[in-house]
Amino acid sequence: MTPQLNEDLTRPIRLGSQRAINRIVMAPMTNKQSHEDGTLSAAEVDWLGMRADGGFGVVITGAWAVAPEGRAWEGQAGLYAERHLAPLVGLAQRIASTDALGIVQVHHGGSRSAPEITHTRGISSSDGPDWDGASDDDIQRIIEAHRAAADRVRAAGLHGIEIHAAHGFLPAQFISRTDNRRTDRWGGDLDGRARFVREVVRAIRTAAGNDFVIGVRLSPENHHHGIVLEETAQIAAWLADDGMDYLHLSLGHALASSSHEEGRRALEVVRALLPRGLPIVAAGSIRTPHDATRVRRLGADLVALGTAAIHDPSWPQHATDPGRLPDVSPSTPEHLAAAGVTPPFLQYLREGWPDSIIETPTDLTPGPEPVTKT
Ligand SMILES: Cc1cc2nc3c(=O)[nH]c(=O)nc-3n(C[C@H](O)[C@H](O)[C@H](O)COP(=O)(O)O)c2cc1C
Repeated sequence: MTPQLNEDLTRPIRLGSQRAINRIVMAPMTNKQSHEDGTLSAAEVDWLGMRADGGFGVVITGAWAVAPEGRAWEGQAGLYAERHLAPLVGLAQRIASTDALGIVQVHHGGSRSAPEITHTRGISSSDGPDWDGASDDDIQRIIEAHRAAADRVRAAGLHGIEIHAAHGFLPAQFISRTDNRRTDRWGGDLDGRARFVREVVRAIRTAAGNDFVIGVRLSPENHHHGIVLEETAQIAAWLADDGMDYLHLSLGHALASSSHEEGRRALEVVRALLPRGLPIVAAGSIRTPHDATRVRRLGADLVALGTAAIHDPSWPQHATDPGRLPDVSPSTPEHLAAAGVTPPFLQYLREGWPDSIIETPTDLTPGPEPVTKT
């Protein structure tokens, strides 16, 4: 084992009814590799399977749509139709051939859905220029869509789901002090604003029973979008009562202080309110075994790797091999292709994360002499 990796990270941990073989998680990452009709592609199964082979104890898929009007990206896998089930079974079988737990991140974009894909107006907690505030019926339908999506994941034989309530998507639009201007039971005080995500967890727990992992991903704070650290900690504590098995904190930097209160770390504030023993996964700029160790010492039970897992599908194996260190970002398109990054994903990385790619210079070798026509 590399001396920098806390050996605690290689020990098993329970997530609800399931046991992860270690505490190293592949963070959810949208990769645009699936089909236009939302069916999961072989390329996306491969991309996930490589990380499960590479020693990640938990592999979380990218954000997959629970309803057609909630889609936000081209090539996003869906969970809203019967045709989505068969390839999901293929993924479950692929994951079952490894030691990893397979978790599907369930997602509704709300006002951040992409109209060029959905061909409809968005829906959110409250009205906006390009979207409508959800009616009571809409809310019940979308909660039910999360439940039905989780049922498909369970029927396929995967271990659990993670509700994407971070990054300003629909559940976060309900939690937000500023996006949510409702005065009914789905808005107002924290109790009302937390109701949507709580009802989603309860609906899935009631339908799935205890033998299915339910995680929730939250952004601990984002003052531009009305997300406040103390409120996040309270919501997390409520979600634990509702049947959540783990909390996933999405942080820009897992080690950074709160952007509003120097010296207070989100991880520590949330930990203080959560029941002892409820696992926290922390993500954000964890690249090296040393980073992972520091985040573990701060109180995270598991560490989630995004960028690092793109560039090194076998990060956990490499981090525990005394003979080498994990591969790091940036890397070349050829390296990424060997790591399961197909052209649509490479293009997405070029647009969003250009610094993560070492572009190979365009081929300057001269071509054949042009044929001169006489
Ligand atoms: C290409 C890419 C796609 C992502 N897609 C998602 C997503 O679908 N759902 C999500 O919750 N976070 C998503 N994220 C955020 C990551 O899960 C992670 O929180 C973030 O990258 C910070 O971790 P890192 O510094 O280890 O990359 C994505 C990140 C990247 C780089």
